[in-house]
Amino acid sequence: MSGDDEVARHYAHGNLEAAILQGLRALGRDPDRLQPDDLQPIDEFHMGGRVATVELADRLDLAPGLRLLDIGSGLGGAARFFAGRGCQVDGIDVTPDYVAAANFLTRRFGLGDRLSFHPGSATDLPFPAATFDRATLLHVGMNIADKARLCAEAARVLKPGGLFGIYDVMRVSPGEIAYPVAWAAGPETSFVVAPAVYREALARAGFTLLEEHDRRALALDVFRRFQARVSERGLPPLGLHLLMGGDAVPKVANMVAALTAGIIAPLMMIARRA
Ligand SMILES: C[S@@+](CC[C@H](N)C(=O)[O-])C[C@H]1O[C@@H](n2cnc3c(N)ncnc32)[C@H](O)[C@@H]1O
Repeated sequence: MSGDDEVARHYAHGNLEAAILQGLRALGRDPDRLQPDDLQPIDEFHMGGRVATVELADRLDLAPGLRLLDIGSGLGGAARFFAGRGCQVDGIDVTPDYVAAANFLTRRFGLGDRLSFHPGSATDLPFPAATFDRATLLHVGMNIADKARLCAEAARVLKPGGLFGIYDVMRVSPGEIAYPVAWAAGPETSFVVAPAVYREALARAGFTLLEEHDRRALALDVFRRFQARVSERGLPPLGLHLLMGGDAVPKVANMVAALTAGIIAPLMMIARRA
C-alpha cells in the first residue's frame, strides 16, 4: 500500500456526511440553513482551532482576489475561512471521504464559486506551475515522509514571491510519543520531525523563511478546555471525535502528554518563494 493510501485509510470514515448531519440535527441546527458557526465544532482539525487559522491568515496577508491552495484541506474549514477573506481557494486532499464532505458542506454555504476541493497528493500536486499566490498546509506534514518533495511541490505551484504558510506538529525535543495520535495509529506512519528539517527543505526548494512561531501554549490551552468539557458533559453530538474515531479520547490524551512534556509543538512558519 502506498503512503498516500495508508493515510487515506487512517482518516477514512465511511459515512461522514450522515454523521455530520446527525450531529447538526442533535444540536438543533437545520442542515438546509447552515450558518457559518454551525460547523465550528468540526471546522478545524488542527491544534489551537480557529485562533490558529486566523493567525495564519493574518500572517499571510490574505486579501480579496488572491488564489490560494490549501494542501491537505480535510473537511475544508480553514479553506472556507480563507475564502471568507475574499480569496479564490482550491483544496486538495488524499482522503476521498474528506474531499466529498468538504464539497458537500461548502455547497450548503453557497460558497461554491469561490472554493472547490479536489482529490490529490501534496507530493504530486494536480496544478500547473506558478498558479497560486498563497499555499497553506495545516497539520499535514506529519503524514508525509518526504518533506523535500512536499516543499518542492509547494514552490512549483506558487508564483514567484508567493507565500507558503505551514502549521504542522514538529518534534521540539527528544522523547517518546505515545500512540495513537490524531494523525497516526503508530510510529510507522508518523513523520514528526524537527523544525530544522522543514527549514532545510524550504531553503532547498527556494523559499526564504520569514517567520517561525511555536504555538504549544495555545494548543495546550484549547486541549485542556476540551478535556474539561468532556469530563463534565461527555462528548458533544458534533466534534472532532467524529473524525478521530472511537479512540478520540486516548488520542487527545497522548497528544496532550507529548505537548506537556515539551516533545512536540505545533509550529507556524511563513516562507516566501523566490
Ligand atoms: C489532521 S488533518 C488536517 C486537515 C485540515 N488541514 C485542517 O487543519 O482542518 C490532515 C489532513 O491531511 C490530509 N493528508 C495527509 N497526507 C496528505 C498528502 N500526502 N496529500 C494530501 N493530503 C494529505 C489528510 O487526508 C487529512 O485530511
